[in-house]
Amino acid sequence: MNIVFLGPPGSGKGTQAKKLADANSIPHLSTGDIFREAISAQTPVGKEVKSFVESGKLVPDQLVSKVVFEKLGTLKQGFLLDGYPRTLEQAKDLDVFLKDRSLTLDAVFFFDVDFDELVQRLSARRQCPGCKEVFNLVARTPKRDGTCDACGGALVQRPDDKAEVVKDRLEVYRKQTQPVLGHYEGRPEYHPINAARTIDEVYNELTSRLGQKARA
Ligand code: AP5
Ligand code: MG
Repeated sequence: MNIVFLGPPGSGKGTQAKKLADANSIPHLSTGDIFREAISAQTPVGKEVKSFVESGKLVPDQLVSKVVFEKLGTLKQGFLLDGYPRTLEQAKDLDVFLKDRSLTLDAVFFFDVDFDELVQRLSARRQCPGCKEVFNLVARTPKRDGTCDACGGALVQRPDDKAEVVKDRLEVYRKQTQPVLGHYEGRPEYHPINAARTIDEVYNELTSRLGQKARA
């Protein structure tokens, strides 16, 4: 299946993508995780994107699309894109990439959550840099303080989850990413979902909608 997750920072894209990808062996491509890894490994791409990512600004379209298409080009079947496309330009780039390969999207999910809830979720987020598992000090606490349940790694707070950066990220989302919803609205694969429910409730809705598609 070819799946896209759209939604504001903190709406649960990464949490659900990891669960869904692990359960169904679908390659999970998170542009944010790809960039954070490149920054930590100090690769040329990492050096180029560091100031954008850590200040909550968007990485330039051309560079993001190049990185995404290089990864997509290596996949044999199916993908789950988490955090891409995030501008109209990227959405158009993705359309062209897929059309050139006679591919289509099976589902585009929009994770709908109020901004007030997002601020709370992001301030309480902790992530494992090793296996990318996402925790929350309120909604998804690790069994041992500061330690990843999945791999035992030390959990960290993302630099862009500081309150002042979160404010800017939400503004960037409102201005640059919200218009992407209009690009997909009206297409049969587009599904807005209420992502303000519990992690399990959101997951059940995703799997049930994907199940309906698989049976169609
Ligand atoms: P990225 O890493 O993609 O960040 P984001 O889109 O801002 O989204 P987040 O990862 O913050 O949130 P999420 O929706 O994944 O939520 P999560 O599941 O973690 O991008 C980072 C940066 O990289 C960008 O700012 C930009 O600089 C650059 N970048 C990336 N892609 C780009 C692109 N395409 N173009 C240009 N630049 C790009 O959940 C959040 C918290 O809530 C967690 O603590 C979780 O446990 C908790 N939670 C999850 N679900 C629930 C629930 N249902 N109820 C309660 N709590 C929940
Ligand atoms: Mg994420």
